[in-house]
Amino acid sequence: MFYGVSYYPEHKAQAEIEHDLALMKELGINIVRMGEFAWCKFEPREGEYDFTWLDPVIAQLGANGIQTIVCTPTACPPAWLVEKHPEILYVDNRGVARPFGGRRHYCYNNPVYREYSHKIAAAIAAHYADNPYVFAFQIDNELAQEGTGRCRCPVCREKFQKWLQAKYGTIAELNRRMGTIFWGQTYDHFGQINLPVNTIEPNTAQAIPAYFENPSLRLDFERFCSESNIEYQNSQRDAIKAYTDKPVTTNATGLATNSIDYFKAFQGLDVYAFDYYPSLRDGAISSFPYAHARGVCRKGFWLLEFVSGGGHGLWGSGRLQPYPGALRQAAIHAFAAGADLVAHFQFRTFPFGAEQLNYAIVDIDGIPRRRFYEVQAAARDLKKLSPILKNSHFVNEVAVCFDYESLWALKIKPIARDFNYVDFCGEIYHRLVRLGVGVDVISFGRDLEQYKVVIVPAPMVMSDDAKRRLKHYVYSGGVLLSTFLAGVKDPDNLGIAESLPCGLTDLFGIRVGEVEPVVERTAATIALDTGAGTVRGGNKYWAETLEPNGAELIGTYADTFREGLGVISRNSYGSGTAYYLGTGLAPELLAELLKLALQDGSVSRVPFAVPEGVEVLARKYDQRNLYCVFNFRTESTAVELGQNFFDVLQGSPVGERVVLPPKGYLFLLEEAQN
Ligand code: GAL
Ligand code: ZN
Repeated sequence: MFYGVSYYPEHKAQAEIEHDLALMKELGINIVRMGEFAWCKFEPREGEYDFTWLDPVIAQLGANGIQTIVCTPTACPPAWLVEKHPEILYVDNRGVARPFGGRRHYCYNNPVYREYSHKIAAAIAAHYADNPYVFAFQIDNELAQEGTGRCRCPVCREKFQKWLQAKYGTIAELNRRMGTIFWGQTYDHFGQINLPVNTIEPNTAQAIPAYFENPSLRLDFERFCSESNIEYQNSQRDAIKAYTDKPVTTNATGLATNSIDYFKAFQGLDVYAFDYYPSLRDGAISSFPYAHARGVCRKGFWLLEFVSGGGHGLWGSGRLQPYPGALRQAAIHAFAAGADLVAHFQFRTFPFGAEQLNYAIVDIDGIPRRRFYEVQAAARDLKKLSPILKNSHFVNEVAVCFDYESLWALKIKPIARDFNYVDFCGEIYHRLVRLGVGVDVISFGRDLEQYKVVIVPAPMVMSDDAKRRLKHYVYSGGVLLSTFLAGVKDPDNLGIAESLPCGLTDLFGIRVGEVEPVVERTAATIALDTGAGTVRGGNKYWAETLEPNGAELIGTYADTFREGLGVISRNSYGSGTAYYLGTGLAPELLAELLKLALQDGSVSRVPFAVPEGVEVLARKYDQRNLYCVFNFRTESTAVELGQNFFDVLQGSPVGERVVLPPKGYLFLLEEAQN
């Protein structure tokens, strides 16, 4: 297990480096990540490589037992390259080229830039392939971050036209499948097709009214850009792999998604890695991105950038400092949730540049303070926990399907102002975790059969294959819960001229009647029959009425003009059960519905009550259960365990009741059954 920091020796004079490395040794870390913005140091003039600024740092760290991840610096093409080849610049959705002077100012499709990127990646890999202290390579830095994943330069335009031609064959076929007859947008040939100017990228303004452009063309543009970014990433991977078998990866932005399909992107890399900056002041850390990470890589993932503190910030506002104990807890929580590597961003506050005075582990004066000591304490705990974490893993019985195509389609054509696909998936995830259930977040492509309960939130765009697989899963005994918007669109992002949920009416035993968004004044009360009684709660986001066609209605509208109409159904299909939920539910009511599905699937739950503000991550150590318990609250919290466990960190048994201090954690191992 690797624990460490990002570090920028290219910023520093020798004396400061000496000071910092001594502190790193004291910190007890074993990994440092370097180089991702330093092209101008690696190759100060074209073809002249220089590693003398980095080699001694790697050597000195190595001598102290600290390994290095070397990054390719392609997020920052140097001034000489931009001067020589201004055509490599990224062009945004207003048609404006991003000038030199920031970062990520390049087009990932530009062939000249691809060649330069390949060359610098190869040079770095060749130099470090056999360095015993270099442990792995990182490609670029946060591909597509800061609105750089949807380039509109002439190269991209031509490439997109060719991409469409390869996909559709003829322009007539494209016109048909995209419904371009609408508003008379029919094309005569591929050369007429413009890149959509509207965008789903975070923090990027729309260039024209968002609803003007053809949604099918827009979805294809998202796919094309995601694929192009992956191609760019993989060309660097190939450059590196020609020299070494060491792990190669890149740092994704996790669920703060930059609209690259990470399920696809990481098929070609050795490990899923992402960056995560949760707030550490009062609330809980969401483990939803970690569950997604496990779904992407099916093994331990890496956090190449992880929060380090507060103070000044890059994004136009400062950042709160962690509550005492929260930084230490956050690192251990990430490892418990499946990380094999965590590197804080970053070691010591920068005096200059866009991120001047930003958060770090050590303040600008180089004096260790509480954040330093918390990282040190986490490193100590990690040493104790490593053997048990390495030999234990997740065996979750419940999966939530997360689908990039539905995410993109819902961003292109949103259904309701307050509805966000990622947050909705997270809401369901967190409700399940609150019920003491372990959850994986997976793609539709993943084998469903290993799960007892599968949940598909707002699966708006579905392929026939995905539908077949869901049916097969339920038919052979699985429990499925789909929410509203199931199968509304086909992969061309067209509505289907059939009853909703299209192609799934037999599986769910219902047809959807009327649909509409829910706004505050139209919210209804929903009554759910749990078998043991009726529970009620409000609805939100989206409302569908269900017409039973074989299914049993277990939920109905309890007021408004829809009173008595169906909204939640349960259907037996083969030897399994399929639930359909036609609206968003208030948290407690959602929990009641989830409980029904969990019961049907005989899903195991954490054997003790999990108080509010506490999270339990359950892993298997051989046949024994390992419960990793985190108190995210700023007060002490008692947990009634009801049985004896072994406390891994203390190395001693614990009784039936434990009290966790504020931001405390406990690793509880079930006693061996002999
Ligand atoms: C990340 C980026 C880092 C740094 C950080 C904010 O998105 O990869 O280089 O800018 O945000 O401090
Ligand atoms: Zn471009």
